[in-house]
Amino acid sequence: MRSSFLIVANRLPVDRTISADGTASWRRSPGGLVTAIAPVMQRRDGAWLGWHGAPGEELKPFEHDGMNLIPVPLSASEVELYYEGFSNATLWPLYHDVVATPIYSRVLWDAYRAVNERFARAAADIAAENAVVWVQDYQLQLVPSMLRALRPDLKIGFFLHIPFPPAELFWQLPWRREILEGLLGADLVGFQRPGGASNFIRLCRRQLGLQNQRQEISFGDRTVRAEAFPISVDFGELDNLVREPHILARAKEIRAELGEPEHVMLGVDRLDYTKGIGQRLKAFGELLADKTISPGEAVFVQIATPSRERVQEYRTLRDEIELRVGRINGTHGVLGVPPVNYFHQSYDRDELAALYCAADVMVVTPLRDGMNLVAKEYVACRHDLRGALVLSEFAGAADELKHAYLVNPWDVEGLKRQMVAAMRATPHELSRRMRSMRRRVATYDVDRWAGEFLAALER
Ligand code: ADP
Ligand code: F6P
Repeated sequence: MRSSFLIVANRLPVDRTISADGTASWRRSPGGLVTAIAPVMQRRDGAWLGWHGAPGEELKPFEHDGMNLIPVPLSASEVELYYEGFSNATLWPLYHDVVATPIYSRVLWDAYRAVNERFARAAADIAAENAVVWVQDYQLQLVPSMLRALRPDLKIGFFLHIPFPPAELFWQLPWRREILEGLLGADLVGFQRPGGASNFIRLCRRQLGLQNQRQEISFGDRTVRAEAFPISVDFGELDNLVREPHILARAKEIRAELGEPEHVMLGVDRLDYTKGIGQRLKAFGELLADKTISPGEAVFVQIATPSRERVQEYRTLRDEIELRVGRINGTHGVLGVPPVNYFHQSYDRDELAALYCAADVMVVTPLRDGMNLVAKEYVACRHDLRGALVLSEFAGAADELKHAYLVNPWDVEGLKRQMVAAMRATPHELSRRMRSMRRRVATYDVDRWAGEFLAALER
């Protein structure tokens, strides 16, 4: 059946997993894109086109959790070249301030183009006459122009979930013209921050010689808008969830299992080198070493979701983080009380919500992040107005959550100071900050984000 509203994303909201006995099942896919798009999709009629996470398997469309899902197959070699390669070893580091060195390879580029073409064709086949098609994220930046060539009747929106880099960095990309022209196939290109939109407009002027009137770029006989739409979370859903007795009971249990420390500090991230996990652990280790805090007084829980495990930088990072955790625990731990509780695992929503409720200090220290939904989830879960958020200035969320304990994650002393300030804050100070942050996230929730984007696209 043809669809009048279509989401096109690299991933579907669920991943196909095959257990040791050969049974297939579905597991929630990692990352912020799924967190944001799933509730939007559940409240609208339409379909979601994306890869189902298993290489080399062709699957029929199916329904899951109130969503119509249409799998796009990827071969094992496409996973390697398009997903692990061009998407996550070229674009990901380039768009995150080159905190790792991007790989520029023509073989990876060719695979990226071919897979983008497949997604564009699949969308063209499914979209009804004059449908709205909303393409998501850096893996599919060529889809807007490819799709427009196939189906000029469609309204095409594009949203970039990660930062769009400054011209000086983007300029490195051998295929910079092709990427810009790919995005210009959309009627509306959305970014997390105003800086991303202006970087894009500046590049269109400099690379393609295009004229613009503020946020409107003239491209041939069309006008393309480039604008910021900061993404958010389903505030109401989380706020309701954490009022349920079983979540509160689990939060208490977690604190008991950790040995009832005075302060529980928490980090929740995909195990990614952009997230500043090493920086925050270093700061915590130094606080123990210089005896600002004592083991048992504070416990750090770090959840590191497995991510992109076959990409070399991610393997190296895992080794580094696990070495650091081992060193801190080996040096400062006492029997039965490791200062850092580290888990390389995925959790369900209830357990994450309980962890947020159990944490006195949420530590979010990315070196660069499009938004960081974990920070907003924590705020949404703290209707008790307790809990402090330590937040990197380099996360998009810092634009909105100005009452967080803001930090520069590269500045270890500053990070230590803010972690201690967050730990030692009075209840009055905590509630003042949390109330203001909750007001913001409650007002600008994920429905508002999607509503504003789609309304601008319709205009
Ligand atoms: P990114 O999109 O880069 O992964 P975000 O912070 O924006 O970063 O989004 C991460 C999302 O993944 C959040 O919704 C968070 O709740 C979820 N998440 C993170 N770690 C886990 C985990 N171990 N298990 C389940 N969900 C997780
Ligand atoms: O926006 C960040 C993002 O890269 C999404 O595009 C992606 O779905 C998510 O993080 C998780 O990454 P991956 O799909 O590579 O596991």
